[in-house]
Amino acid sequence: MKAIVIHRFGPPEVLSYEDLPDPAPRAGEIRIRVHAATVNRVLDVRLRAGTEGHRGATLPLIPGVDCAGIVDAVGAGVTRWRVGDRAAAAGVMPLDVCAEDEAGYTGPQGMMGVRRPGGFAELVCVPASAGVAVPAALDFHHAAVIMRHAPTAWNLLCNLAKLKAGETVLIMGAGGNLGTVGIQIAKHVIGATVIAAAGSYERVQLGLELGADHGVDYHARDLHDAVMEITAGRGVDVLYDNIANPRVLPRAFKTLGLDGRMVTAGAHAGPEAAIDFHHLYDRRITIIGRPGHRAEDRATCFAAAAEGKIRAQIERVLPLSRAAEAHRLVESGEVQGKIVLDPTMG
Ligand SMILES: NC(=O)c1ccc[n+]([C@@H]2O[C@H](COP(=O)([O-])OP(=O)(O)OC[C@H]3O[C@@H](n4cnc5c(N)ncnc54)[C@H](OP(=O)(O)O)[C@@H]3O)[C@@H](O)[C@H]2O)c1
Repeated sequence: MKAIVIHRFGPPEVLSYEDLPDPAPRAGEIRIRVHAATVNRVLDVRLRAGTEGHRGATLPLIPGVDCAGIVDAVGAGVTRWRVGDRAAAAGVMPLDVCAEDEAGYTGPQGMMGVRRPGGFAELVCVPASAGVAVPAALDFHHAAVIMRHAPTAWNLLCNLAKLKAGETVLIMGAGGNLGTVGIQIAKHVIGATVIAAAGSYERVQLGLELGADHGVDYHARDLHDAVMEITAGRGVDVLYDNIANPRVLPRAFKTLGLDGRMVTAGAHAGPEAAIDFHHLYDRRITIIGRPGHRAEDRATCFAAAAEGKIRAQIERVLPLSRAAEAHRLVESGEVQGKIVLDPTMG
């Protein structure tokens, strides 16, 4: 098979497009013929550069922390999957051989593309328990992006903040990955009033196009004043911030009203940002930080995407052989949506 291999950390040129033997699925594993794998700022680009801690990565490594495609072989003991099924996988999973349902597995866990071979390959083996069925109505490129971002947004808004229909949510970084999907979940799935906030006119416009009721460019005007104007002084019920921008988050925090909830799973512009403790206790605010999601959130997000309630923002789909170019694009910070690699294109 063709795969991208990293032999040493460094610039995008270390992503080497090579011929490797086809991997064989071990007991309890499925092999996926990859049609899509996403390229991510932290998990792929910074990891490859060697600037983001190595998260236990061992070289040489086939990167790619997710994949979507077609099951083309199953290992011994696998009954839930058949050759030809549409499947996606991502994130942390058992590293050793485990039963199909993972029951009783106490061995080491790690992320695909970091501690076990990843999705930047024509073929990848993953534990059967890590696979999620991709609905027929969802193409693989969208499935990979939905898998990567939507469950985290779902967990933050639905499970943790418990955002309800009729409540108001302030979505920070509205043009980003978690921002764009958060807007759609809040609006089209939950039925909340959504304020999309971002640091440019274009990113605010994108938030409005995705369904936000209001938009604020926090580089053009004071975020707190704008939100209080929009909410007639009441403030918002939920603040969704995965950026921790120290210049903007303090003003966003002050927009939380009584019994407000702030949820977060990211801090790439921080991690330190000041908040007003008087406001915290006076408004009885709860702050919840938690990455990840519940296992069932993936299938729920796929179903919502198949119904057209959530759409992934894809900037470009490139052949696997152009992985280095994909990394350069993500690194440049100039791309708005996701870059997806498709090994079936070469
Ligand atoms: N599955 C996931 O997506 C996931 C899961 C867990 C954790 N996270 C974490 O959540 C965070 C957001 O992920 P994402 O994929 O949504 O990020 P993103 O799309 O790359 O960026 C989100 C927004 O952050 C702002 N931003 C980017 N770089 C910045 C910088 N250097 N300084 C200040 N602001 C900057 C930009 O918004 P404005 O300029 O408009 O403010 C951008 O639109 C990351 O820290 C990520 O590690 C993500």
